[in-house]
Amino acid sequence: MDPRALYQEVIVEHGRRPRNFGKLEGANHIARGHNPLCGDKMTLYLKVNDQGIVEDARFEGEGCAISMASASLMTEAVKGKSAEEAELMFENFHDLVMNTHEAKRPIELGKIKILAGVKAYPSRVKCATLAWHTLHNALEGGGEVSTE
Ligand code: FES
Repeated sequence: MDPRALYQEVIVEHGRRPRNFGKLEGANHIARGHNPLCGDKMTLYLKVNDQGIVEDARFEGEGCAISMASASLMTEAVKGKSAEEAELMFENFHDLVMNTHEAKRPIELGKIKILAGVKAYPSRVKCATLAWHTLHNALEGGGEVSTE
């Protein structure tokens, strides 16, 4: 399938029916993210166990299809990963969509790479990174983070 068409399909599908949407009872890492360009906000909940593994991840918020799809894919991807691996995924994803340099960290983004299609729409890159900045903040201790 043409990568652009695949990108559109994944955004529409995950945007309409985001996975892991809702509050997570028992979360021990909580962070809020904010995209000041549009005012959209999201809250991310993580449950990280004593071994440092992300046992569960959920999110709440209102945003465009790209931000919802990105949060949906991100929460799916980090479940079962260690906090360190999740942080490496954040760094790889950031590099992928900001096009700074080729990511060489030892972690695969898998299906999330489809979101690189957002680079064709520069004004929407922050929609795709909102969930990831929020993840980074949650792993760092929580609080509020902005994509700016
Ligand atoms: Fe607000 Fe995309 S328009 S996050």
